[in-house]
Amino acid sequence: MRRLPQEIIARKRDGYALDHVDVKEFIDGVVNGDFCDYQTSALLMAIVLQGMDSKETGLLTNAMMRSGRIIELPEISRPKVDKHSTGGVGDKVSLILAPLAAACGLCVPMMSGRGLGHTGGTLDKLEAIPGFRTQISEESYRRQLQEIHQAMIGQSNDIVPADRRLYALRDVTATVESIPLICASILSKKLAEGIDALVLDVKFGNGAFMADEDSGRKLAEALVDISTSMGKPTSALLTRMDQPLGRMVGNSLEVIEAIDCLRGNGPSDLMEVTYALCTEMLILGGLHKSRSEAKKSLEAAINSGAALHAFRELINSQGGDCTVIDDVSRLPHTNQNKEINLGNDKPLYVTSLDAKEFGLVACLLGAGRVNADSIVDPSVGLELLKKIGDRVDTHEGIVRIHYKDAKLLGHAEERLKRAIILSEKKPERYPLVIDHIFSEESTGKRT
Ligand code: URA
Repeated sequence: MRRLPQEIIARKRDGYALDHVDVKEFIDGVVNGDFCDYQTSALLMAIVLQGMDSKETGLLTNAMMRSGRIIELPEISRPKVDKHSTGGVGDKVSLILAPLAAACGLCVPMMSGRGLGHTGGTLDKLEAIPGFRTQISEESYRRQLQEIHQAMIGQSNDIVPADRRLYALRDVTATVESIPLICASILSKKLAEGIDALVLDVKFGNGAFMADEDSGRKLAEALVDISTSMGKPTSALLTRMDQPLGRMVGNSLEVIEAIDCLRGNGPSDLMEVTYALCTEMLILGGLHKSRSEAKKSLEAAINSGAALHAFRELINSQGGDCTVIDDVSRLPHTNQNKEINLGNDKPLYVTSLDAKEFGLVACLLGAGRVNADSIVDPSVGLELLKKIGDRVDTHEGIVRIHYKDAKLLGHAEERLKRAIILSEKKPERYPLVIDHIFSEESTGKRT
């Protein structure tokens, strides 16, 4: 029985649960155009405001996953394990982790997204590399996974096309912060790409979509439950996102930082999260039984240069210019930058860096989208010269703005100054990775 888009929107607006017919009509309509953008956006907002129960979330995930082809990769003998983050500022972990995990013996078929809200996206970062293609044919995807054990692609007209459209609309309509929408978006991609197991980085804090630990935990549990019930052993780490991860925010800048990490020169917070997630992947993939053994193999892959070599292979294989690894000045860059200080007339400590504000300022400079048709500028962004807990000497710079449009500089400067708090007392340090959430079913399949 057909239902009109406005009927489905009204049901959710009025707080009723959608059934499988509603959800199917919605997702089919998104893909075939029967749901136009304003109707889709209205329903997305109704879902954000009214929520969805676990049955609806499962229906939505399933319908989105089935909106395109589902890939199976029986020809690949290595364990196929991927990771996905719920989104953060300066989160370039995937760029480091995929080659690192491949260098350690896993196969990593990774389907990612673009920037979403105030957070950056892996596809936009990769596309900062001249020539890098995030849309490749299924044949090339399979060949690449056989040959170099990793591929990083985007949703397409063939694979999870529903997420491609919904993602673009959620990015610019303030409809990201919703557990069911995040679950369905992430899991539809991950369940369609041919993996054996999944590791999730569920972030909470002012730079994440879940502002507090409690909602982060709820999101992690929902993701693990749905993914496990759909047959994928899944494990989630709950990680803090209360300041940008690493020191760079912005597409080219983040590629540069990822290369530094693969050379063994990465900032400690970024490496801590990368190692924790990658360790989990190696354990879930059955390559190691103990975390300490897994960590040793990751460190060895960085120290030997194997992980950096794997990144070179990835870039090369997807059409990118891999000489950027040896000469980062070949990446798009702007020669205009300005260092910001807070005018302190005595030494102080950084006690807060509002991660969401940093993400929004990066978007404002052009690193993210203002509307669905915006073109991202890979060269602009922010460089953190100080992080929480660092001492700031008199008038010392805290952040460097890399900008193109001088008209935006004043706005960026004003907003960043409000986003930084200095004080006399050195703040306490909190752990970055605070919990590990998994289901018994997943651990049962671990070894
Ligand atoms: N990453 C995704 O792919 N989707 C979301 O909704 C959030 C993060």
